[in-house]
Amino acid sequence: MFSLARKTAAVTGGGSGIGRAIVERYLNAGASVTVLDRCPGDLPEGASGIEVDVSDEAGVEAALKQVYAESGRLDILVNNAAIQPLGVGFDDLTPSLMERTFAVNVNGVAYGIKHAARLMERGGRIVNTASYSGVLGLPGASVYGTSKAAIVHLTKVAAMELAPRGITVNCVCPGTVLTPAVMEIPDNPEIPFMEERTPLGRLAKPEEIAAAFHFLASDDASYVTGAVLPVDGGIMAGWARYDTVAPANVAGGSWTD
Ligand SMILES: NC(=O)c1ccc[n+]([C@@H]2O[C@H](COP(=O)([O-])OP(=O)(O)OC[C@H]3O[C@@H](n4cnc5c(N)ncnc54)[C@H](O)[C@@H]3O)[C@@H](O)[C@H]2O)c1
Repeated sequence: MFSLARKTAAVTGGGSGIGRAIVERYLNAGASVTVLDRCPGDLPEGASGIEVDVSDEAGVEAALKQVYAESGRLDILVNNAAIQPLGVGFDDLTPSLMERTFAVNVNGVAYGIKHAARLMERGGRIVNTASYSGVLGLPGASVYGTSKAAIVHLTKVAAMELAPRGITVNCVCPGTVLTPAVMEIPDNPEIPFMEERTPLGRLAKPEEIAAAFHFLASDDASYVTGAVLPVDGGIMAGWARYDTVAPANVAGGSWTD
């Protein structure tokens, strides 16, 4: 099911965390996979890597053309690379933080869409990594959350523009995921907070996010475009675990005024 045999995929930010889990999943499904990353690192067997900063348009264009030249096709692009500045209140916003966040997280996705679409001659799949913080307001996530909201919007506009060319564009909104970006923060208070608030009562494993990217990259997702798919343990459905709600205030199943 969801075979990616004979497909060629490029995954930005595939050197770590969610991106790496997507790379492994695509390889297992039979795709040829190239990681586009500022720091590709040790890649899983079968994947190749190109060092590129996604905020550099010429670099993204050259990397995607290289992928195309090597296999004669480009079927799938995952725009996943991002930086994640969190815990930054409005008082702490600076031009350099804002410019860098938007350059990587927003411009990088736009450049990926622009240059991949030109190479997807037989149609294709573009899947972007947004975040629940691009849909819900989170304190301290003004610049990061806004960059992710922009990815949701880029996804919808690109889905409209590219539909006539047989290219679908979707985005995934993960909840909090156990990746290095989250786990390397000492005593990260986000972890117990999110465990408490997430309806499923725990954080995600990267593989659970990668599963959605697998479906959206496959031929089976042929009628899905412009979708904003939460993979968040239920956060977007409602922001509390059942065992944290107030006790019943209704006696015997009926309301007495
Ligand atoms: N971890 C979470 O809880 C979480 C939740 C929601 C959304 N996300 C999103 O998922 C994606 C992956 O997050 P992660 O936690 O796996 O991150 P990560 O930090 O583990 O990996 C990010 C990868 O992107 C690469 N990268 C960063 N800047 C780059 C640039 N300018 N050019 C090229 N590559 C660059 C890094 O080298 C790294 O390999 C991001 O888009 C992030 O915003 C993460």
